[in-house]
Amino acid sequence: MNKIVMITGANGGIGKDTARQMALLKRTEKVYLACRNKEKAEAAKKELEELTKRSIFEIVLMDVSKPESVRSAVASLNEPIDALVMNAGGMGGKAPLEKTADGVTQMSATNLLGHVVLVDELIKADKLKNVAMYASSEVVRGVKKMGMKAPNLKTSSEEEFTSILDGSYFGATKDTMAVYGHIKYTATLWMSAMARKHPNLRFISMSPGGTKGTAVMDDLTFFKRIMFKYIGMPILMPLMGMAHNVDKGAERFIKGVNDASLKTGTFYASARNKLTGPVEDQSPFFPDLKNENFQDNADKAIHGFIR
Ligand SMILES: NC(=O)c1ccc[n+]([C@@H]2O[C@H](COP(=O)([O-])OP(=O)(O)OC[C@H]3O[C@@H](n4cnc5c(N)ncnc54)[C@H](OP(=O)(O)O)[C@@H]3O)[C@@H](O)[C@H]2O)c1
Repeated sequence: MNKIVMITGANGGIGKDTARQMALLKRTEKVYLACRNKEKAEAAKKELEELTKRSIFEIVLMDVSKPESVRSAVASLNEPIDALVMNAGGMGGKAPLEKTADGVTQMSATNLLGHVVLVDELIKADKLKNVAMYASSEVVRGVKKMGMKAPNLKTSSEEEFTSILDGSYFGATKDTMAVYGHIKYTATLWMSAMARKHPNLRFISMSPGGTKGTAVMDDLTFFKRIMFKYIGMPILMPLMGMAHNVDKGAERFIKGVNDASLKTGTFYASARNKLTGPVEDQSPFFPDLKNENFQDNADKAIHGFIR
């Protein structure tokens, strides 16, 4: 089970440590590092080989914000994978609300569109055998201590999800963290829709929890970067028990992939009002996650951008 694994965004942060921990499991025979930057991917591969004393890493060049890059990466795969870790993501670069050629924002393209294409193409080519795990976030159900509210949509219609993906939902907002939360929410609903469409595969959404020491905050504006990256994440949040180290975040992804007791179509994250510690199903305190109409609307909305 899960002998061959692919991890997107595996050259740094939680993705790279997931690759390391995966390789420390004897059952793992190959780890595909799906990365957009060849030099960074090669440096990560070398480091991972040294850390694990295993030569089981293979680079696949893939920019998940570009469907054509994802399609050619899948076409280049010579064997099926057992498990996919959809880890690449974050704040969407320096212009997160700028639209791509596909009509979605950069942030939607990076966190969602490319992964939807990736899963669709893998399934079409019969190259996904067991489990797909998506890197979601506690922002999906709000983080009270940080003043982050859960998305509160008016209709949860296909049109409303479309407006989240193309950015029109947000008007002139500068609150990139709120935009990020809505996109991760749409992605989490899409995963649940996929679980119903493909009962032979497992679809798990998993948050790594508040994880310090990664580059996820690097694209925030200057003020927010100082607040989150240099004060909030490394100092205040650990003091409040709201952040853990990268290996803890990656451990959750290993669990998401390998723990067969987790239920397909479910979003696992920290307990209510927490960002660290054991994970649990989030739907008891955010029931919208289990609404099959909402799930299908999110799924249809994202597929509306795929040509
Ligand atoms: N850290 C947290 O507290 C936290 C909490 C909840 C959820 N998450 C989620 O966990 C995941 C990993 O986050 P992290 O903290 O490890 O962030 P990170 O250090 O910024 O790592 C993100 C990885 O994704 C890659 N990536 C970004 N855009 C890409 C693209 N278009 N194509 C291919 N690869 C791309 C990056 O590659 P480059 O080096 O080329 O940019 C990097 O390897 C993200 O999805 C994030 O949203 C993180």
